[in-house]
Amino acid sequence: MARVDTSTSMGTNLSASAPLDESELNALREQFPTLQQSVHGKPLIYFDNAATTQKPRAVIDALQQYYCNDNSNVHRGAHLLADRATQGFEEARIALAKYLNAEAAEQIIWTRGTTESINLVAQTWGRSQLSKGDEILVSAMEHHANIVPWQLLCEATGALLKVIPVSGDGELDLEVYANLLTRRPKLVAITHVSNALGTINPVKQLTEQAHAAGATVLIDGAQAMPHWQVDVQDIGCDFYAFSGHKMFGPTGIGALYGKRRLLEAMPPWHGGGEMIARVSFEKTTYNELPYKFEAGTPHIAGVIGLGAAVQWLNAQNREAFCRHEDSLLAYAHAQADDFKGITRIGRARHKAGVLSFLLNQSHPQDVGTLLDQQGIAVRTGHHCAMPIMDQYRIPGTVRASFAFYNTHQEVDALFRALHKVVSFL
Ligand SMILES: Cc1ncc(COP(=O)(O)O)c(C=O)c1O
Repeated sequence: MARVDTSTSMGTNLSASAPLDESELNALREQFPTLQQSVHGKPLIYFDNAATTQKPRAVIDALQQYYCNDNSNVHRGAHLLADRATQGFEEARIALAKYLNAEAAEQIIWTRGTTESINLVAQTWGRSQLSKGDEILVSAMEHHANIVPWQLLCEATGALLKVIPVSGDGELDLEVYANLLTRRPKLVAITHVSNALGTINPVKQLTEQAHAAGATVLIDGAQAMPHWQVDVQDIGCDFYAFSGHKMFGPTGIGALYGKRRLLEAMPPWHGGGEMIARVSFEKTTYNELPYKFEAGTPHIAGVIGLGAAVQWLNAQNREAFCRHEDSLLAYAHAQADDFKGITRIGRARHKAGVLSFLLNQSHPQDVGTLLDQQGIAVRTGHHCAMPIMDQYRIPGTVRASFAFYNTHQEVDALFRALHKVVSFL
């Protein structure tokens, strides 16, 4: 179920699921080997989850199992290892399709991650559907991965990129959005959750409005997938792009969900093995979905690892995780608001997992370095979202981003450490 229907952060009722208690949290954290270490002589506090999440033992074991026992290329193999690798590979696709409530497994295309998924849509759907003067709408809070592929497409086709403004609090201006839709754009490409601000966008409503105006909709799900179980049919979007490494799976693997009608009509983009039905020098015909978009040997271990991450997530109490994360974020917001010298960047009503801030006049990188020396990992800078930083007239922020395995004590430690940073700078 999508968090929009269940989460307190969306101001709606949550069914009776208690947040995580201390022993549950401890047991959960024990499953993540990286969290068990010290850095600079201090226990690691990992608050860089929006950049990448840590991996549970189940994912690491699945990768090891694949490389130690099943390593082989997939499809068409005439031996047992190839059969086992193919089975793991395709089972992961089925598991992910179910997890997302996709209509069918063939609508899940493996890619290297969100960036590649968006580029795939730009270079195939975009090049075949857009021409001079057609409009593409993105928002001012997009990650560069949901800006630059469209700029490249505009350069190639003469299409025009239009921007939905974002308020000072970090919310989309829905009035301007409605106005921009009257120009009947061909595509609306919007992030589900902002990596720089934490804003949760009302993607179901945005999609309905875009469809009513005749536009195709792509949602960048990179920052939503780590926080709750997304339902693509409930959202109704045409494309949903995301990365495995941000949802507790391996790096280098991700996926694109697409509506069958669109995927079938789209031309392939990478040419090579696997994506063909038949090749001759006179004429090549292409494979069916999903293979038409999966040229060459895929990241088999990555797919199997992502399948293990999905299986692991399916076995967890996601509603309790959501409540716990909401509670962490509210706790961090309250402490930040009481902290003299902190300016929070991004104060949307509905947020997930991100505390972005400035500390007095200090450069974010100096703050990040001093936190690291105290064992606290955060990210600093523009977070690949330069346009929204420009809007706030700042070069970047300090970003603490949370996952379900973080604790309230870690949030306390962050603010104790920030007091030390203030006395140092
Ligand atoms: C909102 C958003 N979109 C896209 C991306 C790009 O993801 P990847 O680098 O895994 O392709 C990120 C990564 O931080 C992101 O936060």
